[in-house]
Amino acid sequence: MFECDAISSGYGEVTVLHDVSFTVGAEVFAVLGANGAGKSTLMKTIARLLPLSGGSMRLDGTDVGAWAPHRFAAAGMAYVPQEANVFPDLTVAENLAIGGMIGKRPRAERLAEVMDLFPQLSARYDQSAGTLSGGEAQMVAVGRALMQDPQLLLLDEPTAGLSPKYVDELFSTIKKIQTERGIGVLLAEQNAGKTLAIADRALILNLGRVFLVEEASRVDDTTLKQGYRL
Ligand SMILES: Nc1ncnc2c1ncn2[C@@H]1O[C@H](COP(=O)(O)OP(=O)(O)OP(=O)(O)O)[C@@H](O)[C@H]1O
Ligand SMILES: [Mg+2]
Repeated sequence: MFECDAISSGYGEVTVLHDVSFTVGAEVFAVLGANGAGKSTLMKTIARLLPLSGGSMRLDGTDVGAWAPHRFAAAGMAYVPQEANVFPDLTVAENLAIGGMIGKRPRAERLAEVMDLFPQLSARYDQSAGTLSGGEAQMVAVGRALMQDPQLLLLDEPTAGLSPKYVDELFSTIKKIQTERGIGVLLAEQNAGKTLAIADRALILNLGRVFLVEEASRVDDTTLKQGYRL
C-alpha cells in the first residue's frame, strides 16, 4: 500500500502540486487531468526526483518522502518517465538488463516474463533502442521497469504518440501486469476513456489539486468535463 498525505511539490519557488492525498493498493490507479494539470509532476515527486515541499508519503507504512530515487527503487518502486525513457545508444537487451540490476529473482526468469508480455521485442533484441518505433520503445521502457520486479509501478503517459492499435495492446498489457502480479500501478494518462476502462480507481488533477478520487466505473463524462476544465 502506497499513501500520499497532503503532498505539495514543484520546481524551485513554483509550487505545482497542492495538498494531494490518495492511497494506491493492488490496483490500476489512473491519474488524469488536462495538459499541465500536474500529472508528470506528481509522478516525478513520487519517484523522488522532486523534493516534497509539504506532506508525506509512505510505502507499506514506511515514510519514503525523503528517500533518494535509488533507495525507493530498491524498495520496490519502478518509474517510466513520459519522455526519454530508454537508453537510445544501448540495445534492447542492455536496456532490459539495466532494470534487472535491481531485484532478487533470477534475471533470466524475469527476462522470460518480459519477453512473454512483449513477444515483438524478441526480433529487436540486439537493436539499439534509439532506432525502435515509438510503440516498441514503450515496450522496452515498461519491460525495463518490470525487470525491477516492482511493487509500485509508475507509468507516465505510456501510450502518448502511439497508434490506436498499439494503445489498445499496451492498455491490455498494463491491466494484465497488474492482475497477474497483484502490484500497484499508477497510470498517468491523457486518454481518459480508455484509461478508465482498465483502471480500478481514478484521481483527477485540476491545476495541481485533487478534483476527485473515485471508482473508475463511476467517473462519467460530465465529471470528466468538469475535472478537465481550466
Ligand atoms: N521543469 C519545470 N520547471 C518549471 N515548471 C514546470 C516544469 N515542468 C513542469 N512545469 C509546470 O508544472 C505544471 C504541471 O506540469 P506537468 O508536466 O506536471 O503537467 P502534466 O499534467 O503532466 O501535463 P501533460 O499532460 O502535458 O504531460 C505546468 O504548469 C508546467 O508548466
Ligand atoms: Mg505529463
